[in-house]
Amino acid sequence: MTFISAIGSRVGEEIELKGWAYNFRSSGKIFFLQLRDGSGRVQVVYAQDALAPAHWDALRSLRIESSVIVRGTVKKDDRSPTGFELDGTSFALIQRAPEDYPIGKKEHGPDFLLDERHLWLRSERQWAIQRVRNTIINATFAYFNENGFIKFDTPILTPTSCEGTTELFEMPYFDEEQKAYLAQSGQLYLEAGIMALGRCFDFGPVFRAEKSKTRRHLAEFWMMDAEAAFVEHEGNMHIQEELILRIVKEVLEKNAYELRVLERDVEPLKKVQAPFVRLTHQEAVRQLRALGSDIGERSDLGADDETMLTEQYERPIFIEKYPAEVKAFYMKRDPSEPDRALNNDLLAPEGFGEIIGGSQREDHLETLLARIDEHRLSREPFEWYLDLRRYGSVPHSGFGYGLERIVGWICGLHHVRETIPFPRMMNRLKP
Ligand code: 4AD
Ligand code: MG
Repeated sequence: MTFISAIGSRVGEEIELKGWAYNFRSSGKIFFLQLRDGSGRVQVVYAQDALAPAHWDALRSLRIESSVIVRGTVKKDDRSPTGFELDGTSFALIQRAPEDYPIGKKEHGPDFLLDERHLWLRSERQWAIQRVRNTIINATFAYFNENGFIKFDTPILTPTSCEGTTELFEMPYFDEEQKAYLAQSGQLYLEAGIMALGRCFDFGPVFRAEKSKTRRHLAEFWMMDAEAAFVEHEGNMHIQEELILRIVKEVLEKNAYELRVLERDVEPLKKVQAPFVRLTHQEAVRQLRALGSDIGERSDLGADDETMLTEQYERPIFIEKYPAEVKAFYMKRDPSEPDRALNNDLLAPEGFGEIIGGSQREDHLETLLARIDEHRLSREPFEWYLDLRRYGSVPHSGFGYGLERIVGWICGLHHVRETIPFPRMMNRLKP
């Protein structure tokens, strides 16, 4: 089977393509068919004289998004955005779509498009976004494979929370007494993984019952968690920097066409170079206040704060050492400032904000027990996690990225809802 993406090497040959008619027009005895096959788009030009009458009649009865089989001779065409065109020699319908394809050329609102998401995915922008997403996933796997990390699959049904109890999806588990929670992050399990395998990463859907309708929040999103034994705070940030550089480089190399479709200015992406900016939380607060934010000394950064800060720099920003009380129980404290965590967020430039959260983990049993108590968590469900500190505890660190946040940043999208095939948000569970 031939794909549109590969026709460049077939100039002068007659080929067959299978796909969908995303648009067409005719003028007298010429018919212009815009064909897409998933791999790309191409125009097929039919002249009535060159076509069997039955094929011409089928063409004339064509409707948007019908599935078709075409044959034609490939020629170079500099006016075409993809550089090629087909001189059509035959045409057949696989299935003729009805006349009422819901997505037309007129502007549609986001709610309408999200209701028609199963069809909206076919449009060129959505196609481009999913292809960039695919590159980001593959670059992530490539980076970890080349750096000694083992893919370790963490569970989705869990007995406890990882990131705090306010955003947990809860469900009955076989009987009325038992509850299961949908995972918010695979991190805690990954910590067990590295004590067996040294360095691990997971990649899968996670769930947050966030009652916030922001442009950055989904109820279901894809997270990559990475964890490494014998790596401390500094080393942890180095891995994050290398991973993000690798992702951006691969997208620039592999998705130039998609980024053009998205009208993404690639200059800011080219400026994503090492070293990333580094600010302590304290420095960030100082800068934010100078910029007019009313952020408190010991507060977490709000979305607006992140946006403001990233507009000051061209490179991604590490913000380190947050006040311990705004972060999770498992984070190790900074020995030189014990009321601060040895953690970092990574903010993407151009206003996009947090894409990664990470930290060194508390590896001392007694200290961790005290943290669990301070956070008013019950010890019992964490006994297995505490075992990791009882049997051969080592310094270790890790981080997690939100795939949709990275896709949104790299594609230059205002809202994360377009970055995932079927977004789940507070007010949306369909289709
Ligand atoms: O910062 P978070 O909550 O960190 C953790 O869950 C750690 N356990 C990760 C780890 O250390 N292994 O989430 C990590 C990332 C955030 O930086 C953000 O990019 C993304 O996940 N994220 C969301 N993305 C979309 N919708 C949401 N509701 C998100 N919440 C977090
Ligand atoms: Mg975070």
